[in-house]
Order: sequence, then structure tokens, then C-alpha cells
Amino acid sequence: NFVTAFVAAAGMGKRMNMGINKQFLSIDDKPILAHTIKKIEKSKYIDFLILIVKKSDMRYVYDIIEKYKININYKIVYGGKERQDSIYNGLLKMPEETDIVLTHDGARPFVSVDKIDEAIERVMDTGAAVLANPVKDTIKVSTDGKLVDYTPNRDRLWQVQTPQVFKKEILMRAYDQAYSEGYYGTDDCSLVEKTGIKVKLIYNSYDNIKITTREDLSIANILVKKVNT
Ligand code: CTP
Ligand code: MG
Repeated sequence: NFVTAFVAAAGMGKRMNMGINKQFLSIDDKPILAHTIKKIEKSKYIDFLILIVKKSDMRYVYDIIEKYKININYKIVYGGKERQDSIYNGLLKMPEETDIVLTHDGARPFVSVDKIDEAIERVMDTGAAVLANPVKDTIKVSTDGKLVDYTPNRDRLWQVQTPQVFKKEILMRAYDQAYSEGYYGTDDCSLVEKTGIKVKLIYNSYDNIKITTREDLSIANILVKKVNT
């Protein structure tokens, strides 16, 4: 099986609000995106990397390539308006021989290589697999952001992470369907779910955070010591 990984790094980092795409901020003296790429590189199954970035961030990308190298065959693709558009741009450029596709957020540098590989091993169960953890807090639904509508039972709530892994045909069909219906999702699984495919949850630790706000940077500086030792 030929496995192609897509690292989405073409966001703006608005919630981080540091005047630079958050993935180029350093943790432990190394850009977040470089940490992430190293994890993908070390997977024993991944054959090819598609790095999705913004054209205006290319100078940072060249810096990373020069300093940290990328020890896997790869290609750089420019992202789009939403995360979904970015991944789609990548999908259109994947190697012909791809059987399995893995999508990952550039802003999740703490995923373990073992879990990446486990997700790839489990993809054949249903054709779709995602790393996830049970929600710790009680979650409320509020449509207007002022009053609570209701409280879903926490036992049923899972927080999904990336990697998200799919058989190529399943993800391509899901993307085609989403665009033809004008549907936008915040992750790839949500598109696949709409085609009726059951996504397999793979239990993972809480360490695989998505670095999103400034609070996450303090946590990241602690996690980097724990995860990379
Ligand atoms: N992403 C992308 N292309 C976009 C938007 C997001 O490749 N058009 C990537 C981000 O770079 C990030 C991942 O998707 O690694 C998850 O998105 P998110 O955490 O929302 O990052 P940003 O969109 O950059 O942050 P914000 O929403 O705060 O602007
Ligand atoms: Mg975003």
C-alpha cells in the first residue's frame, strides 16, 4: 500500500494572533511545523508527503527545509481559503499510485509516531480512521452563544484529532460530494461521514493538542519535554 500524507499548514493563525502563521513559531527552538514534519517522516508506512502552505509563507518553509531537511519524498502545494480547500488542493496533486491518504494538521506537533502508524494499520477496518479522545469537560449546546439549549451526554462525546486516515477512493468521493453539495466541514471525517462510511475512533492521549491560542504555547512548551524524550 502506498501511503501519502498531507500536512495542512496554510492557515492564518487568527486565534493565535501573533502576526505570523502559528506553525512558524518555535517551541524548544524549533518551528512547530518542523516538529510535525519530523513525526510524519518517521512513520514506517508513509511513502510521500504533501506539504500544504501559503505562498506568502514560502520563505519560512525554505528556512525549515534548509535547516531541518525533509527525509522523505515530498511536494509543496499552496493552500486555499478554508482548511478543506487546502486539503483538496493537495489531493489533486497526490502521486497516482496512492492507496491510502492521511491528513494531519501542521499545528499538531505532539502526535506520536506509533499512533500515526496505528491509525494507518486500522484504516482497513472500515476505510476511515481517526485519533480521538473522550471529552473531559461537560459540553453545552448554545445556538446564540448566550443561552444554553441543551447538554449532550458526555459519555457519547469524542474530541477528534488528526491524523485522519482513509482509503483514497473514500476520501476523494467524500470531497467530490461535499463540493457538489456546497458543504464545508472543519475536518475530513465529517465529509466522509456524510457518504455513509463509518469512521473508526482510535483512542489517543490528550497530548496531541492542536496549537490554536496563546495559552496552548505554554502547554506546548511543557509537552515538548514530555513527548520528545
Ligand atoms: N489550515 C490550512 N488551510 C486553511 C486553514 C487552515 O491548511 N485555509 C491548516 C492550519 O494551518 C492548521 C490546520 O489547518 O494547521 C488546523 O486549522 P486551525 O487550527 O484552525 O489553524 P488556522 O486556521 O491557522 O487558525 P485560525 O482558525 O485561528 O485562523
Ligand atoms: Mg482555522
